[in-house]
Amino acid sequence: TTTQPRLVVTPSANIHSDAERAARMSKLSFGRTFTDHMVVIPYRDGAWQQGEIKAYGPLSLDPSCSSLHYGQAIFEGFKAFGQPDGGVKTFRPQSNAERFNRSAKRLAMPALPPELFMQAADALITLERNWVPQNVGESLYMRPLMIATDPFLGVRPALEYLFVMFGSPAGAYFPKGVKPVTVWISEDFVRAAPGGTGEAKCAGNYAASLVAQAQAEQKGCDQVVWLDAVQREYVEEMGGMNLFFVYQQDGKTTLVTPELTGTLLPGITRDSLLQLGRDLGYGTVERKLSVKEWRDDIAAGRMTEVFACGTAAVITPVGFVKANGFELTINNGENGPVTMALREALLAIQHGTAPDAHGWMHAV
Ligand code: COI
Repeated sequence: TTTQPRLVVTPSANIHSDAERAARMSKLSFGRTFTDHMVVIPYRDGAWQQGEIKAYGPLSLDPSCSSLHYGQAIFEGFKAFGQPDGGVKTFRPQSNAERFNRSAKRLAMPALPPELFMQAADALITLERNWVPQNVGESLYMRPLMIATDPFLGVRPALEYLFVMFGSPAGAYFPKGVKPVTVWISEDFVRAAPGGTGEAKCAGNYAASLVAQAQAEQKGCDQVVWLDAVQREYVEEMGGMNLFFVYQQDGKTTLVTPELTGTLLPGITRDSLLQLGRDLGYGTVERKLSVKEWRDDIAAGRMTEVFACGTAAVITPVGFVKANGFELTINNGENGPVTMALREALLAIQHGTAPDAHGWMHAV
């Protein structure tokens, strides 16, 4: 067993005043406001070194470091919520720590002990307690990341890395709030191929998605929907979020979500909604779902709602689908009852207004 590196706290000399912080937190969007401190933990000589909690600010990197050239870079996202009793809890942070290490492994990066991930998160959130919003739908979004930092231009796994974690008080991810989005089914671009990095949360996956997203916007849509790379037939994800399809047949509600084939990001919200769906008495099925089925099942009235889910946006209804040669309207382009029931159920657990039946909340 190895001893746990310590985290040394160096308080920022330039902390937001209460008034400045209140002003920033009174109009929260996503990802634009950052708290006063961040965690940095360097890795070198084959081990994680003593970490520091210090002023949030620019990193100093050698221009040759391979994260900048070859994309040895991964990240995570999870949220801290103010609780009714005045405490703060994070949602399934251990799951993020574990996925972080699966991503690290795929990118030939060192694992970070989950205890260190948790320790860093708890210490930073405790220090930044005043940045945790209280309103429903708001949270302190935590962003851990790891980048390769050693100065070397050769293509090989780096020998030095930096783990960073910072927090961003966040409101709704989509500026229009919970309102159905219009999606473009991309036939020109794919997100992930078998054997690739689709199930890793690596920086390059998101860079590679941007032109497809831009094309979706040119087609008048909000988001891109990805198909499988081989047959271009099966639905995989929407932008950076997992998809769910709601079926109503013979009085029974069933949630269908694409199975984790290795090319999909194994979403923690996805996993949570499969559980919450069962709690609500719905059937749940993880399987492949084709574009043809999507069209046929909407036309037949069997498929009644579609939504996307992720940590940042929680649940976003899909109201309209556009593709080469066809268009669909789902649930009259309105928020559906199953979608909204799941959203409410998840938010209630996160905000501490419903029992945490599955032990998902971690007291900071
Ligand atoms: C999500 O939370 O759904 C994400 O994928 C994070 C996103 C902002 C990159």
